[in-house]
Amino acid sequence: MKLADTKATLSFSNGSPSVDLPVYQGNVGPDVVDIRKLYAQTGMFTYDPGFLSTASCQSAITYIDGDKGELLYRGYPIEQLATHCDFMETCHLLLYGNLPDATAKADFTKRVTMHTMVNEQMQFFLRGFRRDAHPMAIMTGLVGALSAFYHDSTDINNPEHREIAALRLIAKMPTLVAMAYKYSMGQPYMYPKNNLSYAGNFLHMMFATPCEDFAVNPVIERALDRIFVLHADHEQNASTSTVRLCGSSGTNPFAAIAAGVACLWGPAHGGANEACLNMLEDIQKIGGIAKVGHFMEQVKDKNSGVKLMGFGHRVYKNYDPRAKLMQETCKEVLTSLGLENDPLFKLAMALEKIALEDEYFVSRKLYPNVDFYSGIVQRAIGIPVNMFTGVFALARTVGWIAQLNEMISDPEYKIGRPRQLFTGSVKRDVLPISKR
Ligand code: SDX
Repeated sequence: MKLADTKATLSFSNGSPSVDLPVYQGNVGPDVVDIRKLYAQTGMFTYDPGFLSTASCQSAITYIDGDKGELLYRGYPIEQLATHCDFMETCHLLLYGNLPDATAKADFTKRVTMHTMVNEQMQFFLRGFRRDAHPMAIMTGLVGALSAFYHDSTDINNPEHREIAALRLIAKMPTLVAMAYKYSMGQPYMYPKNNLSYAGNFLHMMFATPCEDFAVNPVIERALDRIFVLHADHEQNASTSTVRLCGSSGTNPFAAIAAGVACLWGPAHGGANEACLNMLEDIQKIGGIAKVGHFMEQVKDKNSGVKLMGFGHRVYKNYDPRAKLMQETCKEVLTSLGLENDPLFKLAMALEKIALEDEYFVSRKLYPNVDFYSGIVQRAIGIPVNMFTGVFALARTVGWIAQLNEMISDPEYKIGRPRQLFTGSVKRDVLPISKR
């Protein structure tokens, strides 16, 4: 980042001395007012719950222009990556800053492939869960448990440890997500097959059984790979910020990623794809498209607490570019599976059309986000609704690691420790219980 020509001056109406604050600019996007010395100079904190106006770090990984609906991974538009690249190339790009040539891609893919198995002891963690445990509860446990097996790569300040931990996490997430699914089905776990692609191997571990051969459907394999690309990273979202804050204490990368998994589970964040599909199914049950108007009235009624899941975004005040690509993938997969008349897809498109013409949504700049169509694609592929967020976590792991590693390798990084505006009781004495 570089110092901007302009300065910011903070002045106070009570005659306190004004304070000059440096302004920094990045290569693109809003400038930042550097407030790091504000407390020392004024004895005051800034106040920004929800971080609506706060840049928590400098980063070179992902850039979002919310007004334009633009998403760039290391400068490459998501539309081009989703069309011309696959998830392994995208992982290399996010981790190392460049798209690999054929040799580097083959080498990176081989290094990931060689880490797809998990320790045989991992399967015994699942036995402690009920078969109907939510897969994200299982994933939160399993990812954290990985740190118990890799004492040779838990020193976050050692670049070699960070590299091997990154490969292990990217490689093992599909294996763990598939194990969570198989456990819920009461089926045997399927070992990874190193001759399959990353997405093909995941499909195999999810849907193959020891009883018969399993052929990966290339259309579904490509669609799933694209879903991974679209979910790989997204700047300083809630779960990425969680991973950064957790990692800033120096904890191991497996524990930091487990924190990200836990945060992503929330319905306001990665859990929205599951919530969106459930919403569509609920509307379908009460009459489908004929009932959309009634549902929209509930959404617009503040007291109803009903939200149009898969709509709205803190940063995008335009169409989420991933939603457009996800809708395309939806059409491709449904058509290839002969499901082009899928009622939920038609319902989703009807909801989108109505919302984009409704003043409530237009005035609030609410558009479909990545979660609006992703559930329909995954359901068509055969992935159960409660597994959607696990798939999101699988894909976002590379983004979390890239952001964590960027933070740790920044010589300026410190442990994150926000302050507060205290509104509780000021000092008071304890009275003996007889006098309380
Ligand atoms: C992801 O941050 C990321 O980058 C996340 C993500 C990523 O890749 O990491 O993109 C992934 O999490 C996508 C978002 C998935 N969540 C949902 O689809 C859940 C539904 N959406 C909302 O909960 C909401 O839009 C958020 C949480 C996504 C954003 O919330 P904000 O930025 O805090 O916005 P807000 O709640 O202040 O909303 C502004 C207004 C409010 O109305 P008013 O008080 O101004 O009258 O819009 C309304 C909100 O009530 N609103 C909605 C709505 N989203 C916002 N009203 C109905 N339905 C919705 N979905």
